[in-house]
Amino acid sequence: MHISSTRLFAAWTRPVRQFALVLTGAIALQGCEPGPPEIEADVLIIGAGIAGLSAALEASEAGATVTLLDMNSVGGGHAVQAGGLFMVDTPLQAVKGIEDSVDLAIADMQAWGEDADLAWLRRYVEASRPEVYDWLTRLGVEFALLMPAPGETSVPRFHFTRGTSVNVVVPMMRTALDRAGVRWRMNTEATGIGVAEDGTWEIAARNLRLGDTEQLKARSVVIATGGFEGNLERVRANWLPGVEQPKRLLNGAGRFATGSGLDLGAQAGAVLNRLNKQTIFVTGFPNPRDPSGEHGLLAMNPTAIFVDNSGRRFMNEDVPRKTLETTVLAMPGQSYWMIFDNKGRRRLQVRGAPWLDRDTLDSEILGNPEIVQRGDDIATLAAAAGLPPSELELTIAAYNAQVVLGEEDQFGRFSADIEEDKPPTLGEPPFYALRLYPMSRKSMGGLVIDADARVLNSAGAALAGLYAAGEATGVAGINGSHGGSGTFLGPSVFTGRIAGRTAARTALQDRPAGETSVPPAEPAPAGDGTLLDAAALDALLANSRPGYWHFEQAHALVREREWRCAECHGEQWPTRTAVTAQEKRAQLESCARCH
Ligand SMILES: Cc1cc2nc3c(=O)[nH]c(=O)nc-3n(C[C@H](O)[C@H](O)[C@H](O)COP(=O)(O)OP(=O)(O)OC[C@H]3O[C@@H](n4cnc5c(N)ncnc54)[C@H](O)[C@@H]3O)c2cc1C
Ligand code: HEC
Ligand code: HEC
Repeated sequence: MHISSTRLFAAWTRPVRQFALVLTGAIALQGCEPGPPEIEADVLIIGAGIAGLSAALEASEAGATVTLLDMNSVGGGHAVQAGGLFMVDTPLQAVKGIEDSVDLAIADMQAWGEDADLAWLRRYVEASRPEVYDWLTRLGVEFALLMPAPGETSVPRFHFTRGTSVNVVVPMMRTALDRAGVRWRMNTEATGIGVAEDGTWEIAARNLRLGDTEQLKARSVVIATGGFEGNLERVRANWLPGVEQPKRLLNGAGRFATGSGLDLGAQAGAVLNRLNKQTIFVTGFPNPRDPSGEHGLLAMNPTAIFVDNSGRRFMNEDVPRKTLETTVLAMPGQSYWMIFDNKGRRRLQVRGAPWLDRDTLDSEILGNPEIVQRGDDIATLAAAAGLPPSELELTIAAYNAQVVLGEEDQFGRFSADIEEDKPPTLGEPPFYALRLYPMSRKSMGGLVIDADARVLNSAGAALAGLYAAGEATGVAGINGSHGGSGTFLGPSVFTGRIAGRTAARTALQDRPAGETSVPPAEPAPAGDGTLLDAAALDALLANSRPGYWHFEQAHALVREREWRCAECHGEQWPTRTAVTAQEKRAQLESCARCH
């Protein structure tokens, strides 16, 4: 293998210097015999979330060879936990008798986001039907439901499958597995980036399971590493302008959403913008299964009232999410309590972890005094929560009186005359108090891209052969300062497709005449077909291993629910790392079981 001397960027950080040394070492070992540089793929995509998958499908369709690199052991990214997609003027809307238009959608999003990148907003809204809805439908995605997004949109546009968006990314992954030119490198983290003299990109990649490092060369690189909301230091360092930093801030994003792609981009000379535009939810509470106490789950309860530390209500609980966020973040302490009674207990919804169900909600959340306080009367509840008892009693009595007497709510939650609008009274013991905190969620800034998804430097010039998509770009700024519902997944697909398309076009142009695409060879299975049993699994789970995070998370649940191995594993995919296309296809059958 010949590796030409590498031109290094000024901003090399430590791991990349090591990478440069490794390269020099390789040259010394191999001698200087000239030969063609070994190219891993025409297009190398960092991140196999919804944006990276969109790029991979588009690039491989154009005839490029593709490597999908991901530090997780499974693809899909946040989308497996996410809900729906904001799309405009779609067949599903038509079936439901909803009339929509591009102009109406742009006006809605502009009003909500306040300072959206208008060019990208228009581009997305115009493309959401043909480039996202129709395209995904052709891949086998079935949009079945339209969910409300109160106060955000004039007509419903929040499209759901019959489940989470795992049902969006699984068909995408299935299609990618059918493409011979797509190679998967899982458990592999991109840690550095540089350009070789021949103009190809070189990525330093570390295999998290084996601990070894490789350099991967590609003609085009797409950064699709997601946002940085899983990295609270970074969230705080780019905190919302004019808003106080919360004392307690929870992490409502994923383990791999550290913003490492922003560092890679910066290393390559890219400029970052809009970093302080972040969606911070204010309905988080600590995940009882996270020993660090940092990870948050999301709570909703339409029957609850909210009270501040003085035990008083402070707002209409039914306002749009943005108003709730702005109000709570401006409050002293930036924390408040959700109060409900035994009737309302059944209306509590919690999101954010696959282990949640009615039983674990009862035992680990409602029955967990670290998280939820309970009392047979209001005074006991208040004492447990540390709220002033007489104030809380007065608040609830006044609220109940308004509901019962048919009065107008003092905060406008319900009016005097409309009976159906009224939430129930809080009267049936036991009573519950759940303390809520701000929680990071979605990045609305990051790498700056042009209309072709090319990554730009501070002079506004494109870095040749480098592309970015999805939340790593803050979905191109289409949200402005306030994230909408469903306005991340769709734009991730859209920017991903553009990046994949342009990346493939340039890579194919740069390909030397006569060189053809050589699809990667089918990898050999990683072990024999022996089926392990539960005892063998327990032994594997006894000590946590680097690169096995998802395996451990998933199989802790398998053991807890006492699922049989054969429910997911079998002849097509024995109990081993899925590496062949057949094994990966069989593996995809299991995802919706937990997500
Ligand atoms: C709980 C939750 C619910 C949400 N609900 C919705 C919703 O209903 N609608 C909506 O539109 N949006 C929603 N969002 C936002 C949406 O899910 C994300 O914006 C979107 O999935 C981002 O896709 P992506 O492909 O850009 O990034 P990601 O999905 O984050 O994927 C990035 C991938 O890159 C990998 N990676 C990162 N760094 C590296 C590296 N250095 N080397 C190798 N691999 C790397 C990661 O492992 C990951 O697989 C939600 C987000 C969260 C957290
Ligand atoms: C509900 C589906 C499901 C069930 C049931 C299940 N698994 Fe798995 N298994 C998975 C998934 C998904 C993966 C891929 C996890 C990953 O790589 O992150 C996997 C991967 C594995 C691996 C490979 C880990 C590696 O080294 O990459 C082993 C070993 C394994 N499972 C053993 C078992 C055993 C033993 C049982 C029964 C006690 C079992 N599994 C039950 C879904 C399941
Ligand atoms: C047996 C249950 C189980 C199965 C089957 C399973 N997962 Fe998971 N998965 C989990 C758990 C648990 C987590 C950790 C969620 C958390 O608490 O953050 C997780 C997390 C993830 C994440 C990280 C999400 C994020 O927001 O960053 C991805 C991606 C993922 N799973 C993809 C898959 C895919 C793809 C499949 C199918 C091949 C799959 N999973 C099958 C249980 C499962």
